[in-house]
Amino acid sequence: MSAPNFEDARTRRQMARAAGLDPNHWYAVAHTGAVRSGKVIETRFLDRSIALFRGADGVLGAIENRCAHRQLKLSLGEVDGCKLVCAYHGWAYDASGRLVSVAHETFGKSIERIRIASFPVRERYGLIWLFPGDATLAYSTAMPEIPELERPAPWASIAIDFIWAAHHSLIIENVSDFSHAHLHRKYRPFSNAKLTDLETTGTQVRLSYDVLVGDGRFSKHFVDRSLVKVDRMDLCFDYPYQRSDTGGRIKHWCFLLPMDGRTTHVYFLFYFDAVQIPLLRRPMPRGLQQLLMRAARRLLIRPLLAQDGRMVEAEQQAYDRHADVPAYELNPAVGEFQKMIVRQWRRHLTPAEAAPAEAAHEPV
Ligand code: FES
Ligand SMILES: [Fe+2]
Repeated sequence: MSAPNFEDARTRRQMARAAGLDPNHWYAVAHTGAVRSGKVIETRFLDRSIALFRGADGVLGAIENRCAHRQLKLSLGEVDGCKLVCAYHGWAYDASGRLVSVAHETFGKSIERIRIASFPVRERYGLIWLFPGDATLAYSTAMPEIPELERPAPWASIAIDFIWAAHHSLIIENVSDFSHAHLHRKYRPFSNAKLTDLETTGTQVRLSYDVLVGDGRFSKHFVDRSLVKVDRMDLCFDYPYQRSDTGGRIKHWCFLLPMDGRTTHVYFLFYFDAVQIPLLRRPMPRGLQQLLMRAARRLLIRPLLAQDGRMVEAEQQAYDRHADVPAYELNPAVGEFQKMIVRQWRRHLTPAEAAPAEAAHEPV
């Protein structure tokens, strides 16, 4: 059997694997440096293609990736000043999606009312964020707050992203379920995890593990254990984001961009305030920390997360083959993530009826 869509799904797992993410949130869509002035790229949210460009004035625009003329992708075109110009007949759009000029005669017709959709877009934490839903809600909708990265002396950080051929629910489960230490036995980012707390309130699933954090052969020498307790980690699926906190000094966020039902762009942001010089056991100067972060990114974090990437892609293929076979799940947190994903998607699809329908339709 092929995997069912959301309407036909019978079990909670099937529903979670077919659910989208609520577009009425801010989604990370690119690193700031990926869209410099004069550049356009294509991004996607649940199959909707969006052209993201930066004008000569440095201002970002995010507009529907479809020329109003013959529906070509505008990301095939180029940025001219502050306008995005279609590659075919040179129709030019501003960042609000308004057609401002065409590069040929208009045959006596007015182009004044021609426009395409545009999306709110902003920059924070070195990332470009897009609001794919109802634009009137954008600026009253909270986005992740990371004060540690916005203070005058920000924490050392590592930003890393992947495009994985896997549904976002698989990735949420991967990053929060520590029963897969076996996969990472070479790097040992977490060992001997025991789930101690699990609680769902509102749009958050909070959980804690008693766990040994960062016990790898090299990584354990860089963490200043006089500053941070590394025997417990608190995590939160803070819909639609995920984050963790070890001792208030080692933290991360994971931002998911559901490009389509089988492809997710994942942005990780790790940041630390407890890095020491190995052997000397002295706090590491900020400049040196940032250098170390770059090395850690290449030698540890990327290969470690690539292991997860291979697994979630393999799990997606396995799910597509065996969607109707019962799966034995031991970690109760996984069920909570699935319930949250299903509940929020149903709420998005049918806002008024979501609450009463929930209890009746949640087979496990
Ligand atoms: S298709 Fe875009 S200008 Fe003609
Ligand atoms: Fe992992």
